[in-house]
Amino acid sequence: MNTRMRRAAFAVAAGAMAVSLAACGSAKESGGGSKTTDSAKKGDAIKVGLLLPENQTARYEKFDRPLIEKKVKELTNGKAQVVYANAKQDASTQNQQVDTMITNKVDVLIVDAVDTAAIKSSVQKAKDAGIPVVAYDRLAQGPISAYTSFDNETVGKTQGEALLKALGSKAKSGKIVMMNGSITDPNAAQFKKGAHEVLDGKVNVGKEYDTKDWKPENANSNMQAAISALGKKNIVGVYSANDGMAGGIITALKAAGISVPVTGQDAELAGVQRIVSGDQYMSVYKPYAPEADAAAEMAVALAQGKSLDSIAKDKVDSPTTKQVPTVILPVTSLTKDNIKDTVVKDGVYTVADICTSQYKAACAKLGLK
Ligand code: BGC
Repeated sequence: MNTRMRRAAFAVAAGAMAVSLAACGSAKESGGGSKTTDSAKKGDAIKVGLLLPENQTARYEKFDRPLIEKKVKELTNGKAQVVYANAKQDASTQNQQVDTMITNKVDVLIVDAVDTAAIKSSVQKAKDAGIPVVAYDRLAQGPISAYTSFDNETVGKTQGEALLKALGSKAKSGKIVMMNGSITDPNAAQFKKGAHEVLDGKVNVGKEYDTKDWKPENANSNMQAAISALGKKNIVGVYSANDGMAGGIITALKAAGISVPVTGQDAELAGVQRIVSGDQYMSVYKPYAPEADAAAEMAVALAQGKSLDSIAKDKVDSPTTKQVPTVILPVTSLTKDNIKDTVVKDGVYTVADICTSQYKAACAKLGLK
């Protein structure tokens, strides 16, 4: 996280969402989207392009896509059209998808980049074609007009703090293994940084990996390698950057007969169920709806040539673009103790979704009914 982002995140954490950070730097290439006469005339019948990065992590197809589509419809009296494509973790596919969206004359693009550097030229192309780009969840490089995400360094800190709590006095009695996300995703670097800030000096990191493409199967094979290298008796816990990878990691741990605390992120149904059964210690709950809503609101406003001032209270700098209007959202640590107060309360899952026959007994013990 660069200094300005950290400030932005801090301002949010401090509940000072209205604090303007506009004075933090000189604008090289200002975000905010230029109002073209064309887009200013646009009413509700707009075309929104939505590009998501992968489909192995459950959130994208299950939550982000439907929630964004729903909000766009709501904001446009059902008249807008959302055109969708998933890059399945391939950066060049995603660049082609941007080309297709430009050919299809979308009015605005919402992009969650597979590789935030590789998307840069495509963002430029879209801008040149008069199509503003909203960076979704990952801070895409290039002249984006808006950005929304969570406080990603805090995600890493939350994971680290939970792992320390779970380890208690055993924190230094063995080694932990750290499984970070993909190096093409700047969020992964922020999760990793936040986690290290909390864990360094308090645990011994035996092995650490940047997981190619965020893939559960890669996390699984890295975990197997870590177990062979460190010895199964010496591993006391695993930092996993998300739930998808935690799934692969826990499979490897179980196969070796190891039961230790494992972290996660995304509050995936499978992750929540592993928390219920005790296989996974925690996840980070990032409410999808507020992020999807922010992206939809900014996209519709940009397509209609309206100002983002009332929606995006923060500003962040990307490696290429300064002062991007931004909405940053807070996160919550999810453990067996607050399943009801988080994902169930917010309607992400019903108790029936979580407590299928396999989990009935464990759910009853937690008072989940
Ligand atoms: C997202 C996470 C997700 C990961 C893998 C990150 O950019 O913030 O929610 O688990 O990508 O897709």
